[in-house]
This record gives sequence, C-alpha cells and structure tokens, in this order.
Amino acid sequence: MADLNKTEKTTRDKIIDMLKGEKGYVSGQEMCDRLSLSRTAVWKHIKALKADGYVIDSVNNRGYRLVSLPDIIDEAAIRSHLHTKWLAGDIVYLPETDSSNIQAKQLGEKGGNNGTVVVTDKQTAGRGRRGRTWISPAGNIYYSILLYPDVAVERASMITLIAAMAVARAVRDEEKLEAMIKWPNDVVVNGKKICGILTESSTDMEYIQYVVVGIGINCNQKEFDDEISDTATSISLELGRDVERAKLLAKFFDYFEDYYDIFLETEDFSRLSEKYNELLINKEREVKIIEKGQQRVLRAVGINDMGGLIVEDSKGNRDTIISGEVSVRGLYGYV
Ligand code: BTN
Repeated sequence: MADLNKTEKTTRDKIIDMLKGEKGYVSGQEMCDRLSLSRTAVWKHIKALKADGYVIDSVNNRGYRLVSLPDIIDEAAIRSHLHTKWLAGDIVYLPETDSSNIQAKQLGEKGGNNGTVVVTDKQTAGRGRRGRTWISPAGNIYYSILLYPDVAVERASMITLIAAMAVARAVRDEEKLEAMIKWPNDVVVNGKKICGILTESSTDMEYIQYVVVGIGINCNQKEFDDEISDTATSISLELGRDVERAKLLAKFFDYFEDYYDIFLETEDFSRLSEKYNELLINKEREVKIIEKGQQRVLRAVGINDMGGLIVEDSKGNRDTIISGEVSVRGLYGYV
C-alpha cells in the first residue's frame, strides 16, 4: 500500500509538470538542468511515463512533447486542474484500496490535515449507506475528504448535501449533462443515479472530532449488474464518451470548497438552500414518504435552512422531513 503521509512531489511529477507547462517541446537538456538529472535518468522516466499511458513525442534535437495524458487521477493529474485555497492541500492517491472512507478515517485518527483527500481507482470493500456494499470497479472515481468542522453534531449531515451540490455542478460544468439531486444526496442524470455519498463522523459527546465525506461517481463504467441497471448509470453511458476524471474531480473540489466555506460561516443552509433547490429533482413533484411503515404522498417544495425537505399536502399544510428519518421515493420510476 502507498505511503499515506507522502505529499512531496516526485521527480516523475516534476517531469509531468514540465511537459504540461509547455505546448511545444521541452529539451532533454533543460530537464537535466532543472531537475539535476542525467540524460539517462530523464530517458528512463519518459520511458516509464509512456508505459503508463502518457503519449509523448520524442524528437532528436528538440526534446519531448506531451501529446495526451492517460486517464489517471493521481496527485499530479488532479493538481494540474485544481484552484482551491485549502481543500485537497494533501492528496493521497491509492491505485487500489479497501475503502477510501476507511483510509480517510485512519488519517482522521492520526490528526491528518483538514481537507486531506484520499482518492482511489478501485475499492475492494467500498461502503454504501445503511451498511450496504458499494461495488467499486476500475474506471470510476472513489474519494473521501477529511474535515474538522466546528459545528454542532446534528449539522454535520448538511455536509453531505454540499457534496451532492458540488457533484451536480461539476458534472453540469464539465460534462454538460443535466445532473440533478434526489433529496437528500443522490445525484441523478436522466433519472438514474450516477453518484453516492457516505458521510461518517467521529464524535465525542456533542463535539465533532472529524468528518469523512466519501463520494463515488460512476464515470467510465460501461455495465451494471441486472439488479441496479434500471436505477444506476455512469456519465460515460449517458454521454457516449469517456470522462477525464481528474478534471471533473478538480472541478468538484472548487465547488465543494466554495459551498463548505459558506456553510461554516452560517452553520446552516440559509445561503445555500436556493442553490440546492435549483438542482432538486423532487421540487414541485409528488414524493412518497415512507416513515415507520406508513406511506404519505405529498408535494415537495424544497429544502429549508437546516437541509430538511419541506413537503405540502393537497390542502397546503406543510411539514418538514429531516434527513435520515424517512425514505423518499418518487412515484414514477426511480425519482
Ligand atoms: C450510497 O449508498 O449511496 C453511498 C455510497 C458511497 C460510496 C463512496 S465511494 C468512496 C467512499 N468510500 C466508500 O467506501 N464509500 C464511499
């Protein structure tokens, strides 16, 4: 397993940065000088990068030119698109792991930095809500963010809503798909789920020790098991082309940081509910509320400043459904 505390740039990362920073050719001599490497060492790194899917043009007397990147989500790839102030200050990339949430929680126990991100290509023990398994094949993105929010315990669940907003916005910006949120935190495209979010907190009485927000986005998955193929999809299936995952992820971090900073200022959803409601697929639709075995069919109005879903009956009487208390299902199909 990779070293979780390693954040320093490697020579390989520096070579990638140099190639990315230049539209034309970077001379071998310049790489040697700037990185204090021999010609042979540079050549070996280039050979290894090519083997990993980087397409690099090598021309005598001109040097090396980056033609295309492999679809990788390691630290260098994510950082090359990132604009955040504090989020993803530490990025821990693991090609494969049990669960990014488990790894991020271990960092939380050790006092890892606020905003540390654990990202992986593949999970062998991915976790979903209500104790379910989150099947995590290669091609998608699985990541967890370690946070230390100074808010009351009962407000931590709002961070999940923020993550859903950031996913929906990033997918809209980068992939031009009409991603929506099914309350409270499933992100759907064309009525099917493309993302799941699992937030886990460590608390001590009424204090939050740390929060781990785990997000799985179905990016380039081409097939789903029969049991879920009616309700789940991937961005690639909806688009008809593959997704550049690092770019999408970086866009998510930009949005998440923005929304999370607003949330910390207000400690509620007062300045975010309008933005959330714009993305809410249930808005103005009938939803079936299943609570303690009882079913009610009501119209969803939107979320309130605490992230609860406001619903209305045919006489205009309003009620608020609190996250985690009930199960909301659309009347028609999945949403
Ligand atoms: C759901 O059931 O809808 C939530 C699924 C959350 C899956 C993500 S993938 C990254 C992170 N690591 C995990 O083990 N689970 C979350």
